[in-house]
Amino acid sequence: MNEGLIFERSRKGRVGFLFPALDVPEKKIAEILPDSYRRQEIPPLPEVSEVDVVRHYTLLSRKNYGVDLGFYPLGSCTMKYNPKMNEAAAALPGFADVHPLQPESTVQGTLEMLYKATELLCELTGMDWGTLQPFAGAHGEFTGMKLFKAYFDSRGEEKRTKLLVPDSAHGTNPASAHIAGFDVVELKSSEDGLVSLEELDKYLDDSLAGIMLTNPNTLGLFEKDIMEIAARVHKAGGLLYYDGANMNAIMGIIRPGDMGFDVVHLNPHKTLSTPHGGGGPGSGTVFVKERLRDFLPNPDIVKEGDNYRLRNSAKSSIGRISGFYGNIAVILRAYSYLLFMGSDGLKAASERAVLNANYLKEKLKKTYNLPIDMVCMHEFVLSAKPEKDKHGFSALDIAKGLLDYGIHPPTIYFPLIVPEAMMIEPTETENLDTLNEFIEAMEEIHEQGRTNPEILKKAPLSTAVRRVDEFRAAKEPILRWFPETKTD
Ligand SMILES: Cc1ncc(COP(=O)(O)O)c(C=O)c1O
Repeated sequence: MNEGLIFERSRKGRVGFLFPALDVPEKKIAEILPDSYRRQEIPPLPEVSEVDVVRHYTLLSRKNYGVDLGFYPLGSCTMKYNPKMNEAAAALPGFADVHPLQPESTVQGTLEMLYKATELLCELTGMDWGTLQPFAGAHGEFTGMKLFKAYFDSRGEEKRTKLLVPDSAHGTNPASAHIAGFDVVELKSSEDGLVSLEELDKYLDDSLAGIMLTNPNTLGLFEKDIMEIAARVHKAGGLLYYDGANMNAIMGIIRPGDMGFDVVHLNPHKTLSTPHGGGGPGSGTVFVKERLRDFLPNPDIVKEGDNYRLRNSAKSSIGRISGFYGNIAVILRAYSYLLFMGSDGLKAASERAVLNANYLKEKLKKTYNLPIDMVCMHEFVLSAKPEKDKHGFSALDIAKGLLDYGIHPPTIYFPLIVPEAMMIEPTETENLDTLNEFIEAMEEIHEQGRTNPEILKKAPLSTAVRRVDEFRAAKEPILRWFPETKTD
């Protein structure tokens, strides 16, 4: 059976759809669309029947892996199960069929939803107002950094260009700060993986713009000195940015706004349950304290009496950050999730996420090295360095081995400060049986690596695509098909 590209199923003359007979005279078409705008040759599209198309895409979907198929403990990404109710909400025609250029009076429901979602997200984060425009976490970070810049410019403090980012941070943090025009300074973590106050003190001068943090940090550890960090940064005239990718650990328990952060982005596609992965769909909603409100992107959604309006209400706005109002379908799923969970439900979800992570950590540290042995939040980081040094198998081999158990691997080689890192985030939606199956798989892989590393190095053995040359795939990606493209 042909399991390759749809182009390889193509046979000349085979059709899956018949167009109605052309009822516009050719001459007329030539008048409206001159030759220079028309293809002179028929493009090499696959010629396939309907059943070919259905089988092709069904086979593809069966080669894919998602959270609806099995365990997906991808640290820093919160791949939790996404309740189908949210999908039903996103598919409601009253939302799904609107056009962004429709008059406001005809999209009152959508505007009301966006307004109320902003209110709820402000409550969740402890902030005063925000924007739903950014399309991803990194886009939110960039927006936040532009807000920092606008704030300092408005105060004549253009010399504040130094932006601190801990060495454990996600790579998008320094990248976003740099693109927004800041000089990024890496802040070395302490032995226990947290922000070191002594290290911080070295940078507290009048060139400081602020610090970007996520709390819990990327090692899954809570920055216990956060109130002191915030006080010192503020005293030095700087601002605090909160990367909300790890919000799943603290919902309904503690809020970034109460920890002293001035700007926060959330990743609703992760924390608030939108199916994501492979690059989308995403959202990077940004929330601010009152003193930064005037710089938010326009337009804003405001309530006037019983009506919702789009207004350029931010007086010193950084301008538009997206073409329209953000990824509305992701916000809608998040809104549906927030209403369904309620504050008690969100708190319970975070508590369970933390419990599940600590359960896995305690069990797995008997077999694997846990570099920082502390109570973790929603995720933790193991190191396969001892395995690599003693037995010759690596974090990559363990990750590939998990594929043969039908389990998505954890994030590997991140954070960069842990050698052979394996970052595990089970999420709250997994039950004890799944967690135990994962522990068993990790133990068996360890045993195999110790006794027969050569087999583990060939894993995966049971997947549609075996071990790929990841270097070549990254350096020479083949993203388009040409008739002469070889697919082996
Ligand atoms: C800690 C952290 N910050 C920021 C991001 C960026 O989010 P996005 O992938 O939506 O741009 C991620 C994504 O993995 C993350 O884990």
